[in-house]
Amino acid sequence: MKPAPHPKRELPIGIFDSGIGGLTVVRQIHHLLPNEDIIYLGDTARVPYGTKAPSTVIRFACEDLQFLTQQNVKAVVVACNTVSAWALPTLEKQFPLPIMGVILPGAQTALAESTGHRIGVIGTHSTIRSRAYERAMIGLDPLAQVFAQACPLLVPLVEEGWINHRATKLILQEYLAPLLRRKIDALVLGCTHYPLLKTAIRQTIGPKIRLVDSAESCARFVRERLTQLELLSHRRRLGAIQPFLTDETTQFDGYAARFLGVPAEPAWRVELTTATQPTALPQT
Ligand code: DGL
Repeated sequence: MKPAPHPKRELPIGIFDSGIGGLTVVRQIHHLLPNEDIIYLGDTARVPYGTKAPSTVIRFACEDLQFLTQQNVKAVVVACNTVSAWALPTLEKQFPLPIMGVILPGAQTALAESTGHRIGVIGTHSTIRSRAYERAMIGLDPLAQVFAQACPLLVPLVEEGWINHRATKLILQEYLAPLLRRKIDALVLGCTHYPLLKTAIRQTIGPKIRLVDSAESCARFVRERLTQLELLSHRRRLGAIQPFLTDETTQFDGYAARFLGVPAEPAWRVELTTATQPTALPQT
């Protein structure tokens, strides 16, 4: 007799981010798992997280995840690098469902792609300060040498749509020069917004260095994990993407066209309820 299907496998996947940047992760997951329904929460009222204290990031992340569990999702993907860097252990302790972040998949892909173990990572101030990518990579391969660079100006430039602007190219040259001097052979795009800058980054670093898109690695990781857990949907229709935002939704369509690239349901505005205080906040 065939085993009964997992009772939750047709529920949506919950994905959240500090804002709309996490739609780059939604895009990759929808591309790889097109029949999955997705509920997306963007905390646009409180973006950016990348400049905030770790304790604040953890508190916001608990509130975001609480909202998604109320939507009855089968698993949660933390699309935000900053949240993945600081809050994953707390979220895993507090919420009893599969939770996947972007750091481990990005670290694994970087190690697989790098031939000389010299890996650069770029991200927000908070992600770089956490050293989460570095710890993940050195934990998997003690020979890895990781060089990290915070690039705080890139998020606003991408949101402004200055993808191919000469100002963006100049700023990229400044940020990436120290990593190029370190002779990196792979570069992890450790922020939701950076996949949109791939072409400009490629022009800056030349053809040889491998570019690791943490959104793409995350999507492959999600597929593997849901397969192991027997939580993949078996439906045949195209999955729906339902966005929720914590601030006004008027500009969502413009952002969605750039970050998501596929149609989504109309965005709804929501208020988040305050989470019960997480147990172990770091003293920061
Ligand atoms: N989503 C954030 C990240 O990937 C970037 C935007 C922010 O600072 O909140 O780190």
